[in-house]
Amino acid sequence: MSATIIDGKDLSLALKDEMKVQIAQLEAKYGRKPCLSVIIVGEDPASQSYVRGKIKAAAYVGMDSRLIELPASVSQDELLSLIRDLNADGGVDGILVQLPLPKHIDSNLVIEAIAPAKDVDGFHPVNVANLWLGLDCMVPCTPKGVMKMLERAGIEVAGKTAVVVGRSNIVGKPVAKLLLDANATVILAHSRTKDLKAMTLQADILVAATGAIGLIKGDMVKPGAAVIDVGIGRGADGKLHGDVDFESACERAAYITPVPGGVGPMTITMLMANTIECFIKRMHAC
Ligand code: GUN
Repeated sequence: MSATIIDGKDLSLALKDEMKVQIAQLEAKYGRKPCLSVIIVGEDPASQSYVRGKIKAAAYVGMDSRLIELPASVSQDELLSLIRDLNADGGVDGILVQLPLPKHIDSNLVIEAIAPAKDVDGFHPVNVANLWLGLDCMVPCTPKGVMKMLERAGIEVAGKTAVVVGRSNIVGKPVAKLLLDANATVILAHSRTKDLKAMTLQADILVAATGAIGLIKGDMVKPGAAVIDVGIGRGADGKLHGDVDFESACERAAYITPVPGGVGPMTITMLMANTIECFIKRMHAC
């Protein structure tokens, strides 16, 4: 068997083109476009590259964006005060503070300072709580992107066994909850799981989000499974790889996402979707 590849780049482009049309309609209706505000602290090259991607995507879909670049020496109070200003700014719909932050700044305090209604990352405790309570909330971008890929690839989730490997707050836990909400039977595996292979072999849908390159080998994949690879890291060969050993997994999976060009582009695209969602909710709240 050779798996069908779910191309995250193509899908992202299609979704962003849909958003472009939606934003033009929103502007006609409400007299302004959604606006995403992105804060970056310091000069970490990886963070700068991610942030550039976010601003570029905002321009592509036709939304406004504000990039706020702060020196690594900025104080926690200055950052918190800036966030309060953006919370109160009627022209800002989404606020994203790029992580990680310098060590002298408490990330939890920063995340908690963002108004839940403008929390496009879905990291605020109110949004996390509401996700787990099944209430209206902002859903984190990567898990939302995983679900969108399954949906657009026409993969049925209800009644299936889904195995999520990795229990991070940003990916593993929320994607497990979204799969549960979509009526999958969910196994949440992690680094202390005994006999990981016995778990993954049960997976009709396998989501790998550990950051351990090549952890999931082909013989750990149930024949006919959909394999979603959230991991990304640079291998000894200097190339980008995921958590899944792509070549061997392709032999058994029915569907698979590549790395790069799989879940990665979807994360940024879902950030655009979340900003639009914040905008619409705020317009309706007026
Ligand atoms: N740094 C790496 N990934 C993310 C993300 O999804 N959101 C934010 N704010 N920072 C990140």
